[in-house]
Amino acid sequence: MSASGGAVSHDPAAVVRAIVDAAGRHVAPLLARTEERLGAAATGHGEVLGAHAGETIAAGGKRLRPLLVVLAAGPAAQDEERVVRAAVAVELVHSATLVHDDVLDEASLRRGRPTVVARAGAGMATATGDLLFSRAFAELAAPGGRTEALRALSAASSALARGELLQRADAWSPTVTVERYLERCELKTARLFQAACELGALEAGDSATGATEALGAFGRRIGLAFQLLDDVLDVAGPAERTGKHRGADLLDGTITLPLILARERDGELASLDLHSVRTPAEAEAVCDAVVATGALEAARAKALAMVRDARGELPVLPLTQRRALDLVAESVVERYA
Ligand code: IPE
Ligand code: IPE
Ligand code: MG
Ligand code: MG
Repeated sequence: MSASGGAVSHDPAAVVRAIVDAAGRHVAPLLARTEERLGAAATGHGEVLGAHAGETIAAGGKRLRPLLVVLAAGPAAQDEERVVRAAVAVELVHSATLVHDDVLDEASLRRGRPTVVARAGAGMATATGDLLFSRAFAELAAPGGRTEALRALSAASSALARGELLQRADAWSPTVTVERYLERCELKTARLFQAACELGALEAGDSATGATEALGAFGRRIGLAFQLLDDVLDVAGPAERTGKHRGADLLDGTITLPLILARERDGELASLDLHSVRTPAEAEAVCDAVVATGALEAARAKALAMVRDARGELPVLPLTQRRALDLVAESVVERYA
């Protein structure tokens, strides 16, 4: 990720510092308040469940979605408390979906730590995700909360559920098209990025004409690119960098863009029955075959074009806000450089 001018840095703290420098001094205190509230969100709902939910939050993550909320709200937000609550709510929904996603994907590693499902089983992980979801909506339903914000986050959560179901329905299928794959990414990832930007935009004190639509479209486009690049990284690895095992998508039958493109280029991959890929070593070997086709570069190029389109939404925004969001777009790309 980059501090400015394209110098690559993978240090998340350096990226956030650069974004805060570009966006203004209001950002760091809002992010700190978000972090504090996130830490408290899971407490008071039973020791066991609270511990799993708390661990999930404490494990960190890039906090990209709350950052989008704060940046979209801009420096003249009407109500800072509401911005913080919106940022917390979006990150809680995200965390809930990750805990549930790891049940569906039977994943063992998340944010560099064992997943809740691996630690405590599917029942506990389902309940932990449910708790995180409920705390998210409680944030938005606090006194003074906005119905529009609740509606936007609820729409994104419903889309996410549909996206996850689409992913299961298409698991191991040899006929998943690029269009169908993109529809899934739109539902399971892009809509929440869009909602993050929209929730922030709702709080902007001095919105330019068309700013809300532009911010929503920006969020949606970088969300889509983000998922494409996550899918590239699943094939590229390594786990030390991603906090997740390489080839995890193959092992749970998830058909992603790199695989779709690789199958168009390599007859052996095209005829491979994915059910036969059962061990991490077998998955690594298929990942190597996918890499050899050049499909990762093609998928990356598609994601980069989406990020370019996302940046094209920004000119209607004030310069400071635009610079900061430009850096976010850049960081999404450079994480995978
Ligand atoms: C992971 O999201 C799920 C996807 C949409 C690919 P992140 O990569 O933002 O996860 P954390 O919050 O940083 O762990
Ligand atoms: C994104 O899909 C998960 C959600 C949007 C909930 P993935 O299954 O690719 O996410 P990771 O790779 O497990 O983080
Ligand atoms: Mg997953
Ligand atoms: Mg993934």
